[in-house]
Amino acid sequence: MTPEVARLTNDIMIAVGEQQTYLTRLEHQLKELQTREYLGLKDDPELSLILLIDGLKRFLSSIPQFRSYWLGKKSQFSNLSGGLKGLDSSERKNFGQDLNWFKQTVESELAGIQQRAERLEIEFRLLSERLDVTLPPRPSPIGLIHPISRTIEEITAIFGAMDFVVGEGLDIQTDWYNFGALNIPAHHPARADHDTFYLPGERDGRPLLLRTQTSDAQIITMLNQKPPLRVIAPGRTYRADHDATHSPMFHQCEGLAIDRALTLGHLKGCLIDFLRSFFGIANLPVRFRASYFPFTEPSMEVDIGWNRRTGELGGGGDWLEILGSGMVHARVLANCGLDAREWQGFAFGMGVERLTMLKHGIPDLRLFFESDLRWLRHYGCNPLAPVMLHEAP
Ligand code: DAH
Repeated sequence: MTPEVARLTNDIMIAVGEQQTYLTRLEHQLKELQTREYLGLKDDPELSLILLIDGLKRFLSSIPQFRSYWLGKKSQFSNLSGGLKGLDSSERKNFGQDLNWFKQTVESELAGIQQRAERLEIEFRLLSERLDVTLPPRPSPIGLIHPISRTIEEITAIFGAMDFVVGEGLDIQTDWYNFGALNIPAHHPARADHDTFYLPGERDGRPLLLRTQTSDAQIITMLNQKPPLRVIAPGRTYRADHDATHSPMFHQCEGLAIDRALTLGHLKGCLIDFLRSFFGIANLPVRFRASYFPFTEPSMEVDIGWNRRTGELGGGGDWLEILGSGMVHARVLANCGLDAREWQGFAFGMGVERLTMLKHGIPDLRLFFESDLRWLRHYGCNPLAPVMLHEAP
C-alpha cells in the first residue's frame, strides 16, 4: 500500500475508533438502564434518558460532516486523488486501487456507525416512552353543564314527554312581537313594567328592542305553524334590572298549546305534572291564583308549596309564586290569524333562573353569569348523567 494512503487509513481508523468507543459506552448504559427497568429499580439520576437521546441526535447529525472531512472536496483524500493524473499508468493503477479501497473502507465504517447509533436511539426512545400502567391517571379536567342549561334540558325533556316540541323566538325583536301582538298596546302600563332595552334602528317599520319575555315565540309559532300545536321555547330575555334576584340578561321558557277544545283543566293538569316532575316531589302542592296578563284571559299565577323558614319545597304551608299562565287571549289569536271560535289554547311562562335556584338551593342569581370556576364546579352538572324523568304522579 502507498504510504500516503496507509497514513490516511491509520488516521481515520483512530477517528472511527473514538466514535465507536462513544457508542460502546452508550450500549453499556443502555444495558444498565434496561436491567434497572426489568428489575423495577428507580431511575438512575446519573443516566438521564433525555440527555442520552439528545447526545445521540447530535452524534447522528454530525456524521455527514465527518464524512465530508475525510472524503469531501477539501479532504486529504481528494488531494491525493488529484495527484493520480501525474503518475504513470502502473503506478496510477496501484495508487487508484488503494484510494478506492480507502474510500470504501470509510463508507462502510461510517455506515456501521450510523446504524449502531440509530439502533441505540430507538432503544433509548423505547425506554423513555414506556407506558407505566401502574401510574395513577393524570386528572383530565372535564367540563360541566351549566345549571341553567341543565334546567332547560330538564324542562325540555318533561314537556317533550307530553308531546311538546321546541320552538324559538328572537333575542332582538320588534316591539310588535314583544308587546303589540301580545295585546300590550303602545301606552299600556305593562310596557313600563318591563324596563325594556330599546335598540337603535327598526325592522318592518317597528322599533327594535331586546325582548323582555319569551312570549314572542307564541306569535312566531302561531304565524308559522298550523294548529293544533304544542311548543315550548326556552331562551334569553333582557330587562334593565340588576340585584340579587334580577340580572339584566336572564332566561325564560315559554309554553303554548293550541287546539280545538283545550280548557283550563288541560292547563292545570299540564303544569301540575310539570312542576311535580321537575322538582321530583310527587305530592308537591300546586295552587292556581287568579291574576292578570294582557295576553291571556283568564290569567293565573301558579304557586307551589314550601316552607318559607327553611326554604324546603313541598310542605310547610307557605306559597311561592313560580310561573304565569292563562288561556290565550282571543285578540292574540286574532293577531296571528286564528279564529277564536275555532281555536283556543293555553300559554305559560317561567323564569329558568328562579326554577334553578329553587331546585338546587342557589341563593344569589348574580353568580350565574360571572363564570367563576369555583361556582361552576360546585353547581355544574355531570355531562354524562342523563336527564332523569321522574314518573309524573
Ligand atoms: N311573559 C310573562 C312574564 O315575563 C310570563 C307569562 C305569563 C308568559 C303568562 C305566558 C303567560 O305565556 O301565559 O312575566
